Amino acid sequence: MTLHITTFTFFFIVILPFLCSEAHVSNLTASHESSTTSGFILNLIHRESSPLSPFYNPLATHFERLKNAIHRSNSRLSHFQSKCRSRCRSSGSIESNIRYDSGEYLMKLLIGTPPVETLGIADTGSDLTWIQCKPCKRCFKHKNPLFDLRASSSYKTLKCTSKQCKAFEGYVGTCTREHNKCQYHVVYGDGSYSYGHLATETLTFGETSIEKLAFGCGHDNQGIFGNSSSGIIGLGGGPLSLINQLKERIQGKFSYCLVSIFKNATSTISFGEQAQVSSSKAVSTPLFRPPGETYYYLYLEKVTIGNKSFEVPSEEPGARVQRGNILIDSGTTITYLPRGEFYDGIVSTLKEDMDVKTIDDPDKNFNFCYKTNSNIKAPSIAFQFTNATIKIPQSSAFVEVDDGITCFTVVPSGISIFGNILQENFLVSYDLQKEMVSFEATDCSKKL
Ligand SMILES: *[C@@H]1O[C@H](CO)[C@@H](O)[C@H](O)[C@H]1NC(C)=O
Ligand SMILES: *[C@@H]1O[C@H](CO)[C@@H](O)[C@H](O)[C@H]1NC(C)=O
Ligand SMILES: *[C@@H]1O[C@H](CO)[C@@H](O)[C@H](O)[C@H]1NC(C)=O
Ligand SMILES: *[C@@H]1O[C@H](CO)[C@@H](O)[C@H](O)[C@H]1NC(C)=O
Ligand SMILES: *[C@@H]1O[C@H](CO)[C@@H](O)[C@H](O)[C@H]1NC(C)=O
Repeated sequence: MTLHITTFTFFFIVILPFLCSEAHVSNLTASHESSTTSGFILNLIHRESSPLSPFYNPLATHFERLKNAIHRSNSRLSHFQSKCRSRCRSSGSIESNIRYDSGEYLMKLLIGTPPVETLGIADTGSDLTWIQCKPCKRCFKHKNPLFDLRASSSYKTLKCTSKQCKAFEGYVGTCTREHNKCQYHVVYGDGSYSYGHLATETLTFGETSIEKLAFGCGHDNQGIFGNSSSGIIGLGGGPLSLINQLKERIQGKFSYCLVSIFKNATSTISFGEQAQVSSSKAVSTPLFRPPGETYYYLYLEKVTIGNKSFEVPSEEPGARVQRGNILIDSGTTITYLPRGEFYDGIVSTLKEDMDVKTIDDPDKNFNFCYKTNSNIKAPSIAFQFTNATIKIPQSSAFVEVDDGITCFTVVPSGISIFGNILQENFLVSYDLQKEMVSFEATDCSKKL
């Protein structure tokens, strides 16, 4: 009983990992007649800085856009932090008033038969895909018309007994068996929510249509998302995630290539064969996904500044083989590393090497800032993941955050997140069959 009451107040219950036992990690792979397709590539539209986004404000300065992204990044961190002490688990702790910002990138897809365009937030930090549906009791305003399930011949509500519903039930236990229709209810800590039915539909990605994918048709939705989308596209690692449902079709592979938010170019996401790294210069590191869990983790061993190495502090030596120590997330803008001696060592080495006069960040987001000067050369900065060393370009490690103020985009925190600025201009490729993530330095503005 307690469980049901508390789940109600949980922050974003869908992505709570460990309420769900392994029994719920069922085989939800959608059935397809053939898997001959080589995959598909779509645009990832930055919600604020891409002219393709309906929320692009041409009058905003790029500093304003960056500040908004940093603000969202910090609230997303609070969310992860509340779920992740040493690792992310649903400890049962309840947090309120923390806003879950569901990601930075929008993805277009077509839903139903005939297909209707919808724009959702592509989120590697959540599993369930849901969109606002007609009839709508309460819906937030957004640009596209609501999806009308009655106008789609391929829409089918899932029964309570379906494996997809059971997988969802595993998380929250919301199936009330009202007309044997599977219901879902996702609640966010700030009071936002989406309530509706789990159903299957044909989703079309670019030219590729895939039948019978489970998603949430939200009939009562309120709150957040800055009206920027029709819903969420769940790209996490859990059972109901699109990635898991498309597993056979895409052979567990997807990748993204992110451009700088200051650049007028579009990031991309690929699924299936096209998601593979091609060059021998790519490096690969093990991906950690505890069963049933949404988040993706890597293991970061060291950070190297010039010729000095800083070993990531480990609370439990030896635990590395079973799990990662850093979340990799496309929806978090800045990178967070463990605070303390480790982080301080990195920053003091950078300061010493760069020999710059530091200034304070007026917004207090960053720990190391200096007066912008293009002549300042940073030493080489490398993130050493297990078996994969990634050289971070100076342009990602140091970003001009305000007029004349350049800051180090890595900040100290209780948990570690490898954020999207540091992932810019890498083809980041996830292989859920081999349980590996590969990085290949790439000019992402030339990707399509
Ligand atoms: C999942 O189901 C698919 C199709 O029904 C099957 O080919 C695949 O082997 C199953 N995978 C697991 C892990 O059971
Ligand atoms: C979202 O739309 C509502 C009206 O539906 C409006 O009051 C609110 O200001 C909008 N929020 C944003 C961030 O645009
Ligand atoms: C961005 O690039 C597109 C295509 O190259 C161009 O049409 C558009 O005007 C550019 N927008 C801005 C704000 O520079
Ligand atoms: C590291 O680099 C510094 C400056 O480039 C140099 O003085 C020092 O000898 C180097 N240390 C080692 C161990 O190579
Ligand atoms: C690291 O790479 C080596 C050599 O390719 C390989 O034998 C080893 O299994 C890899 N380690 C992990 C954890 O993948």
